[in-house]
Amino acid sequence: MPNITFSAPIMKKDKTIYAVAGNTSTILALAKEHDIPIPFECGDGDCGSCLIEVTALGDKPLMGMALTEKEKARLKELQMISPAELEQAEVNDTPPRFRLACQFIPRDEDVLVSFTGTPGGS
Ligand code: FES
Repeated sequence: MPNITFSAPIMKKDKTIYAVAGNTSTILALAKEHDIPIPFECGDGDCGSCLIEVTALGDKPLMGMALTEKEKARLKELQMISPAELEQAEVNDTPPRFRLACQFIPRDEDVLVSFTGTPGGS
């Protein structure tokens, strides 16, 4: 059961939520459910406004997960994924540092999700 901690300069303090086992909600859906103000517009990987930075907490590395083609395209367009990170994502399913909250479904890992509160400005 993962702990997901949200942190942003626009929040009074960090907030940690516990995603239930087998959770299939995106970070954006979980944030909305818990009144965490991650900016968003399309909710579908098209606009890039929900950019977040994801850091593994604890000693477990982030679990592998294939990025959707939309997320890869948008992160490339925003210049928030390096060619090396893109290769790692495509070859080893190693997630990059920046993600789109509307595309990222947390797994069984504790993570810190940081965002600025400015659309597209993780
Ligand atoms: Fe548009 Fe996530 S809300 S890409």
